[in-house]
Amino acid sequence: MMGSNASSASASKANTESPGERAFHQNCSTCHGAPSPSEHTAAEWSAVVKNMEQRMSSYGLHVPDHKTTQAIVDYLQSHASK
Ligand code: HEC
Repeated sequence: MMGSNASSASASKANTESPGERAFHQNCSTCHGAPSPSEHTAAEWSAVVKNMEQRMSSYGLHVPDHKTTQAIVDYLQSHASK
C-alpha cells in the first residue's frame, strides 16, 4: 500500500521540523535546554556549535557527524539574529 497518507511524498515543505531543527533539538538539549537560534548571529553559530561538540566529546556523549552538524548550523544560521 502506498501513498494514501501523504507523508511519504518526497521532501516538500516539512510540515513540522526540518532535519536540521530536529537534529538540533536532539543534540542540543542534553546538557541544557535548547537555546534560541536568535541568541547568536549566523557568524557566531558555527563557532558555538564547534565548542559544544568539544564538550560533547569530553562528556563522552555522542558527537553528531559532519552532515548532521552542518544541518544544525544551517538551521541555527537561518534563524539567527542576523
Ligand atoms: C555536553 C553537554 C552540552 C551539549 C550536548 C551542548 N551544550 Fe551548549 N553548553 C554546555 C555548557 C556546559 C554550557 C555553559 C558553559 C558556557 O556558557 O560556555 C553551554 C552553553 C551554551 C550556550 C550559551 C553560551 C554561549 O556560547 O552562547 C549556547 C548558545 C549553547 N550552549 C548552544 C548549544 C548548541 C547549539 C548545542 C548543540 C550543537 C549544545 N549547546 C549542546 C554544554 C553542552
